Parts: sequence; structure tokens; C-alpha cells
Amino acid sequence: MLDKDALGTLNWLVEAGADEAIGEVPVNRLVAAPPPQAAAAPKAIAAEAAPMVAMAKSQAAGDTVTNAQTLANAATSLAELKAALEGFDGGALKRSATSTVFADGTPEGRVMFIGEAPGRDEDRSGKPFVGRAGQLLDKMLASIGLDRKANAYITNVINWRPPDNRDPSPEEAAMCLPFLRRHIELANPGVIILLGAVAARHVMGISEGIMKSRGRWMEYRVGACMVPIMPTLHPAYLLRQPAHKKLAWRDLQALAIRMETLGLPEPVSRSN
Ligand code: URA
Repeated sequence: MLDKDALGTLNWLVEAGADEAIGEVPVNRLVAAPPPQAAAAPKAIAAEAAPMVAMAKSQAAGDTVTNAQTLANAATSLAELKAALEGFDGGALKRSATSTVFADGTPEGRVMFIGEAPGRDEDRSGKPFVGRAGQLLDKMLASIGLDRKANAYITNVINWRPPDNRDPSPEEAAMCLPFLRRHIELANPGVIILLGAVAARHVMGISEGIMKSRGRWMEYRVGACMVPIMPTLHPAYLLRQPAHKKLAWRDLQALAIRMETLGLPEPVSRSN
């Protein structure tokens, strides 16, 4: 290109608004596609960035758990804890749910049941165990003289319904656990029953199957006290495997005996 032509082209570009050089090396964009190495470059960058992205995600998850701990530990009553949970930024899990499902029943009876996570009916009503599994749970409670309206207290590990009732992820459980631990402290149960493998895993760190751990008494530390705690079969599982109800019945009888020894449920005086 002659100098005269080059100057003319430059003037034309400046008039068109292209008045700044953005790279050291000129690129002729009228010439075919970039060579394969250049096309591979974004992937290489993505691969390099992957650990950073993972680190940022785990930091965000860590921040969420720290935030949950701070909020939960600041609560001095069950009502405050419920309000803290409702105000907490529970991320995608909370946004996908209709309700924050906190608890139902009578903590004063000091017999506490912990399930897995709300399902569709619980998400609609805002209360744990109100669907078919909940109706079976109510019958199980009644068989040993318990009733959520009078002396039994019920909650879940997870406070928001996982979409499509999928299993809660480890991150979701980690986010809810500070609230559950504080929940147990504030409810002050004399005995705790874990409903199903998910509750057994997250509350007691039990990784073996529920068929092995069910019916076994353990201890859960609350401050300076040790609270008896036992995993049993989840009512939803019993709906699918009714033949295993006899195992749950054995666990309920063991609970009834333990309650008698401990003087539970505690009599609840109601003014209303
Ligand atoms: N299953 C649970 O674990 N919790 C509920 O609240 C309902 C069903």
C-alpha cells in the first residue's frame, strides 16, 4: 500500500470512530478464522481459572456457614432462632422454596424428633411432617403416648424443600447445621430421635446404613450435658417398606422405656 493510500485509510478509520489502537499486533479480521492454537486459548484459560473458581465458590460456601453460625448463636430463644432463619440468605435452596420450615409441636415435652427435609406438603404449609410420612409419624408417636400438640417436638436437618425432593447436598446441610445445633440447644430435649439416614449422618456423623445404626442409643452433647439420641427408620421409608414397621416398633418401645426412666415427656402446663 502506498503511503498516500495508508494515510487515506487511517483518516477514514478515524472518521468512522476507530481512533484507538487496542493491540500491539495488527489483526486482519477479513482473513479467515483464527488458527487452532488461538481457538484453544480460551479453554486453556478456563482450565487455569478452574481452581480459582472452585476456591471462590468454597470461600462463598464458607462465608455462608460462618454467617449461619453467627446468626444462629446470637438467637436466645426459639422464636429468635426462627426469625434468624427466616432472615438468613439461604441462597438458591431458600429461593427455590415457598416456606422456611422451622418446627412443629411442643418443645416443653422434651422429646425431639429430627427428620431430613421438607417435602411438597411441608413447603406449602410451612410445617414439618404434614404429608403422608407425617401422618404415619403421628400414628407412631400416638402408639407411645406422644402427640405434637401435647408433648412431642419435630424439626428437620434442612429447613427448605430441596427442588424435586432431591437429597440435600453437603453444602446445603452444612449451611443448615448451625441452626439445627442451636435449635437443639434452645429446645433443650431430654431425648432425641433421628428419623432416617440423612438425619443420622448430619447430626451424629453416622456413615453406615440406617439398618445398622437404628435402635442404637448414643449421646449428643449439649453444653455440659449429654442427651440420649437414637436413629430409627424414616416414616417415608416405612411407607415404602411396611414390613420394616416391626423394626420401627421395636425402636419406639425402646424410646418408651427410656422416656419412662427419664421421666419424659415432661408435663406441659398450658394457659391457653
Ligand atoms: N420428610 C422429612 O424428613 N421431613 C418432613 O418434614 C417431611 C417429610
